[in-house]
Amino acid sequence: MRTIDWVDGAIELVDQTRLPDEYVLLRVETVDELVEAIRRLAVRGAPALGVAGALGVALARGDQEAVARLRAARPTAVNLAWGVDQASAAADPLATALRIRDEDIAACRAMGERGAGLIEGERLRIMTVCNTGGLAAVERGTALGVVQTLHEQGRLAEVYALETRPLLQGARLTTWELGRMGAPHRLVADSAGPYLLARGGVDAVLIGADRIAANGDTANKIGSYALALGAERAGVPFYVVAPESTIDAATPSGDYIEIEDRGTEEIIAIRGVRLAPEGTQALNPAFDVTPHDLITAIVTESRVIRP
Ligand code: MRU
Repeated sequence: MRTIDWVDGAIELVDQTRLPDEYVLLRVETVDELVEAIRRLAVRGAPALGVAGALGVALARGDQEAVARLRAARPTAVNLAWGVDQASAAADPLATALRIRDEDIAACRAMGERGAGLIEGERLRIMTVCNTGGLAAVERGTALGVVQTLHEQGRLAEVYALETRPLLQGARLTTWELGRMGAPHRLVADSAGPYLLARGGVDAVLIGADRIAANGDTANKIGSYALALGAERAGVPFYVVAPESTIDAATPSGDYIEIEDRGTEEIIAIRGVRLAPEGTQALNPAFDVTPHDLITAIVTESRVIRP
């Protein structure tokens, strides 16, 4: 499966808002369609956004205003701006975008192997949040790529996937991917994560990243910080798995990372079914920042970084 690709002069991507009920490919022919797909999370996850940004520059065909709209479609994952900038600076944006796509496939495979080599044990129980699998990249994922490699090595006992409110990337997407892999897993309510760590029975927490600041502070899906605190208290190793392109040397620390707030609607309703009284206002930070001292190691395609 390729989550995103260039097919016959346009972008083709798996519409992730339709999963797990339907597997639908979306054909994106203009930058405005791509911006809309990114905003509603039809395509999402930092590495996939990097490829989308780069391919989008090819779609823009030199329209700089369109490129600027694309770059700003979502603020937290640095890969989107990075992919746009890489392709914009190239003489042939499409060739650069296709290279970024291919490098992502190789990087995810390398992260899977390096991460699996780092974690000790033979019957591993892994906790994760959001979706960091092939759907968040091109073919294989980052943190879930490590899980996939562990499973292929016969070293995976079970995955505890947090459901990841409000948009349920864990419940909808991670379980779908783990099912396709044939990897044993159970879905966990977000609020149960830290308690399950405290109770024992989890060998490692693996998360992805949307932006890693120069000092190692890591922005990732909301709920990551709570897991990091729980893991520290329980003495469970906490790993961030992300490509080098997610490291943003221009951002000194997590204090400088813009956190997307996605507004009230996603919190007060699930898929159009309202939960809270009409008129309720919500806070909806889509990401949080885990301070570097709570991270056991950051695993990229080329190195392991410790605090
Ligand atoms: O809002 P999303 O679904 O785009 O958030 C995605 C995440 O937080 C992922 O953990 C991160 O992008 C890494 S994906 C390999």
